[in-house]
Amino acid sequence: MSCMREVKNILVTGGAGFIGSSFIRYLLTLPEFEGNIVNYDLLTYAANTDNIKSVSSCKRYFFIQGDICSQNLVEDLLLDYKIDSIVHFAAETHVDRSIANPSSFFDANIRGTYSLLEALRKMPHIHFHHISTDEVYGSLGEKGFFYENSPYRPSSPYAASKAASDHLVKAYGHTYGLRTTLSHSCNNYGPYQYPEKFIPLLILNALQRKTLPIYGMGRNVRQWIFVEDHSKAVWTILKRGRLGETYDIGGGEEKSNIELLQLLLKIISEEASIEHSLLFSLIKYVKDRPGHDFRYAIDGDKLQKELGWRSEVVLEEGLRKTVRWYLKHANKLFAYR
Ligand SMILES: NC(=O)c1ccc[n+]([C@@H]2O[C@H](COP(=O)([O-])OP(=O)(O)OC[C@H]3O[C@@H](n4cnc5c(N)ncnc54)[C@H](O)[C@@H]3O)[C@@H](O)[C@H]2O)c1
Repeated sequence: MSCMREVKNILVTGGAGFIGSSFIRYLLTLPEFEGNIVNYDLLTYAANTDNIKSVSSCKRYFFIQGDICSQNLVEDLLLDYKIDSIVHFAAETHVDRSIANPSSFFDANIRGTYSLLEALRKMPHIHFHHISTDEVYGSLGEKGFFYENSPYRPSSPYAASKAASDHLVKAYGHTYGLRTTLSHSCNNYGPYQYPEKFIPLLILNALQRKTLPIYGMGRNVRQWIFVEDHSKAVWTILKRGRLGETYDIGGGEEKSNIELLQLLLKIISEEASIEHSLLFSLIKYVKDRPGHDFRYAIDGDKLQKELGWRSEVVLEEGLRKTVRWYLKHANKLFAYR
């Protein structure tokens, strides 16, 4: 049975990134949430303070720049702001970077999560929700789904670092009685994502008539969730998820990378009035990523049945919103590249 948890003051780690900032913007407009949010973010290359500009003058919002590995600073914040819940988004997240330089992933994702959990041992009343990824489960064939109890088989250094952080969260919950929940989501897309990631990279390249690189033959399959749906799922788990439990967050819509690109180009062509055939001529198949997982797909039934959450935004509608946002902000974003 789930119960309603009181959530007053939340520490969000990594709240200047893509998903963390969506979560903050969502909560600060949600009537049922009346508490404060402390956004604790190191502001690495992946952060963007524009992501949280719209909430920066809100009296219930506080930004502190810092590293999740700085345990003393985190402990001070937990006390000073009377934090009762932590939502832990902060991480190094780009798979290609993890293949080129894994060490920063182990520092942020493993050492950083360990450091937060150590702080919590001194304040075990605080609820800790850990944000993880379907990539910890490894790769699927043409059929089947990942479930909460699927074995971990991470393929990339990124996935391995997230898997290690999950194990730490579960072990600390079990051994020290910490109040933890954990979620694995499928691939997120939406406004405010850093331009190195698949969808924003393709949109911005298409707008500049640059090459659209796609790994292998584009057959790798991913399941996609609109970022605001993910934020709503996290809030649902924070309020009503059972302690010690894991919830998989699946958007439901699966596409091979080439199918996704085709849909995206159709939308870009309509929204930006660029000739369809010109956009298609920009596609270039490039050497596959080493160890590239073929398919990820989350079942997601537990979250629907137990807590009543389901995704609301269908892929085409979400992609259209995303393309419109990137069109509006394109000039500023080109400068990032
Ligand atoms: N993007 C996806 O599709 C996806 C899917 C499933 C799970 N996730 C998980 O969701 C979380 C957020 O992902 P995202 O796409 O928003 O990432 P992102 O790269 O956009 O943002 C990460 C944020 O964490 C901050 N950060 C990094 N290291 C830090 C440190 N040591 N201390 C404090 N802050 C630090 C960065 O400055 C940045 O603002 C991650 O844990 C990721 O593994 C992402």
